[in-house]
Amino acid sequence: MFTDLAAYFDANATRIRDELFDFLRIPSVSARSEHDADTRRAAEWLRGSLDQAGLRTEVIDTAGHPIVLAEWRGAGRGRPTVLIYGHYDVQPAEPLDLWDSPAFEPTVRDGRIYARGSVDDKGQLFLHVKALEAHLKVRGTLPVNVIVLAEGEEEVGSVNLEAFVREHATRLACDAVVISDSTMFAPGQPSILSSLRGMAYFQIDVQGPSGDLHSGMYGGAVVNPAMALARILATFHDDTGRIAIDGFYDAVQAWPDAVRSQMRGLPFDEEHFRDEVGATALGGEPGYTVLERLWTRPTCEVNGLLSGYTGEGAKTVLPAKAMAKVSCRLVPDQDPQEIERLMHAHVARVAPAGVTVTVQHLHGGRPWRADLEGPLFDAARRALAEAFGKEPVIVGEGGSIPVVGDFQSILGAPVLLVGFGLPGENAHAPNEWISVENFETGMRAMARLYEEYGKS
Ligand code: BES
Ligand code: MN
Ligand code: MN
Repeated sequence: MFTDLAAYFDANATRIRDELFDFLRIPSVSARSEHDADTRRAAEWLRGSLDQAGLRTEVIDTAGHPIVLAEWRGAGRGRPTVLIYGHYDVQPAEPLDLWDSPAFEPTVRDGRIYARGSVDDKGQLFLHVKALEAHLKVRGTLPVNVIVLAEGEEEVGSVNLEAFVREHATRLACDAVVISDSTMFAPGQPSILSSLRGMAYFQIDVQGPSGDLHSGMYGGAVVNPAMALARILATFHDDTGRIAIDGFYDAVQAWPDAVRSQMRGLPFDEEHFRDEVGATALGGEPGYTVLERLWTRPTCEVNGLLSGYTGEGAKTVLPAKAMAKVSCRLVPDQDPQEIERLMHAHVARVAPAGVTVTVQHLHGGRPWRADLEGPLFDAARRALAEAFGKEPVIVGEGGSIPVVGDFQSILGAPVLLVGFGLPGENAHAPNEWISVENFETGMRAMARLYEEYGKS
């Protein structure tokens, strides 16, 4: 790192921390309409921060939560343009009683900043804002042109973003996309993502009798919607753990041997992983390691179930309806729309008589795989190696960032996913945290990245 930028980060560390804390205090929970005003406030706050850093900014309304767009094009036409993407929305903080400090009151303990959104994704987005600010304040310029695109709907499926990217494809044209919304493989081990899984999310509703019934007076003669739903869900896998939806695997590509063997070379302890999640045994598709199951294979999971009486004690009731939330994680080249079609056909085939079953598709996103070649990745390797003192490893990822596939296909630009979270960070769970050291080093690494990429 050139000393002038390092000195800037040192001199401004407290202010940067205070600003991040202000950002984290805003409960921008995209899933909850009672937080709509907070979500907008977070967008405005972020716009202000980008403005202060020296970019031209605007908040653009969508059918859902607003998009924050910022630009700095002072490097000129001859220089590359980088689009930095992130999300300022966060997951709901519940269950609140499991937090050791309040979810929206950032607290430092053991070198970690605890708060909802600290790592996913406000902290990781904000470190990019500060990397840009450092360049612009210290040198009055940046080695590359920059577009910052931050959305407030990632945690609810980015439903309005693809259309936005299509509509503004000319304005968003760029040579590279950079995203920090993921984790490092281990502490001190910088990591570049080679893949993300895609997503197809469904709600399945089963309607039986017109109202709840006495299970003694009617049970045995009326089809039970909860049982019907259980039967449907049980058909999604065979006994070995493979997904049994017709055609589900048809588009799944074999992973390149080189990537697979690289993956098998990563130090990963399956026992430790089992211990960490607190399960008595691990499950999944036969013939694959845990990392392969997580990164290279598709899933079909139940995310939630609702039916009948779930309160204290016993109640003899035959529920009128049952509902399940089901999501499939997809891998290249599965297409969310095709999976939607297959899911509809499958459920229609297995749905028992006597109930009405509807399948609603809530949102989807394509899977993504990087090609990891070219000046962007070379620059990232150098920047990360310098900031962390260690060469980055290439890792896969089981999670999804819906817009990434769209960036690649609509903008035609390579996407660099370089995250600064850590295993155990509790994203989406109580006590979410980001390591203070990773925030600091990540900020410096990203400042360095623009320098390195600007040379190309
Ligand atoms: N940042 C995550 C995705 C992620 C998780 C990347 C772990 C790398 C490591 C993102 O905010 C997220 O939670 N995505 C959702 C997307 C869904 C709502 C379509 C996910 O993966 O469940
Ligand atoms: Mn995220
Ligand atoms: Mn998330």
